[in-house]
Amino acid sequence: MATTVQAMQIEDFGEPEVLQLVEVPVGEPGPGEIRIRHQACGLNFIDVYHRTGLYPNTLPLTLGLEGAGIVEAVGEGVTHLQVGDRAAYASQPPGAYSEARVMPAKCVVRLPDAIDFDTAAAMMLKGLTVQYLLKKTLPQGGLHPGDFVLFHAAAGGVGLIACQWARALGLQLIGTAGSDAKCQLAREHGAAHTINYTNEDFVARVKEITDGKGVKVVYDSIGKDTFERSLDCLRPFGLMVSFGASSGPVPPFPISMLAPKGSLYVTRATLFTHIATRESTQAMADELFEVVQSGAVTIRIDQRYALADAAQAHRDLETRQTTGSSVLIP
Ligand SMILES: NC(=O)c1ccc[n+]([C@@H]2O[C@H](COP(=O)([O-])OP(=O)(O)OC[C@H]3O[C@@H](n4cnc5c(N)ncnc54)[C@H](OP(=O)(O)O)[C@@H]3O)[C@@H](O)[C@H]2O)c1
Repeated sequence: MATTVQAMQIEDFGEPEVLQLVEVPVGEPGPGEIRIRHQACGLNFIDVYHRTGLYPNTLPLTLGLEGAGIVEAVGEGVTHLQVGDRAAYASQPPGAYSEARVMPAKCVVRLPDAIDFDTAAAMMLKGLTVQYLLKKTLPQGGLHPGDFVLFHAAAGGVGLIACQWARALGLQLIGTAGSDAKCQLAREHGAAHTINYTNEDFVARVKEITDGKGVKVVYDSIGKDTFERSLDCLRPFGLMVSFGASSGPVPPFPISMLAPKGSLYVTRATLFTHIATRESTQAMADELFEVVQSGAVTIRIDQRYALADAAQAHRDLETRQTTGSSVLIP
């Protein structure tokens, strides 16, 4: 095998231009590792945080946490994967923007034959995120058919999966998005109601839609621009799930603020807690594969880029030009 592969790497944190196509060495997997040859890599907003340095990493760094391909070599102690398996993952550490990589095996799962590589690369990180949000990050008493939830950026990669999965669970997802066209896309994918938060007051609209009661849970990946107003969309004892910072990090706030708003709960959730073990990763992936194979959730790939064009992919994602998922093809 070739001892070097092409990868999109950064040597400094910064604007998309810091992404450069380079040759990097790729070796043999050690204990608990595999080498995978990527057929497709996923693009995620967390890649932007890694590129800018918002989430710290050591440099130089090959970006990317999501991919799909063929297992080429298996290290000692790995029993759930074999050479030749079709496989996919969402996993730390970064390194998915490459033709091939050596990586920990515990977050890599075998891919059902019915799911193609592009779809897998478009859905692992985003779909597992929706699984833990809607199934495991719940308000007191859980969520039940008919319940309202507020989900920001509903036409994005995570968002369109959430719209469909929420519909399959019987939930009334109120989705926000940045344009009327994006709102329509979210409704077509199962959002019960949508709000264009660039020209509508989403707090007022949520109150209107819920007869003044508010929602049991808000899933907020926007961060700085929406956090405080999202709290005002909750009913008493409601749960605020902050899981991203597309507009910037949530500023510090006094915890006492949660009392007068109705004894609210707040969590800052991350997928990586949920996929810490092979068993939990496999269980979550099985649920994701099931909703995709049943047709309850379709994975929309609205943007495809050559791996070498990753900088353009980042520009499009950051300037809110994208909908659904994006993949990079090595
Ligand atoms: N914690 C976790 O476990 C976890 C896992 C996966 C993803 N996430 C987070 O979930 C979010 C969605 O991820 P994704 O990869 O699917 O991205 P995405 O939703 O496809 O793209 C981000 C979207 O955020 C919206 N947005 C609002 N304000 C923005 C701003 N100032 N700059 C850029 N975008 C803005 C835009 O949609 P509109 O134009 O419709 O507003 C944009 O399309 C990200 O914040 C990501 O970090 C968290």
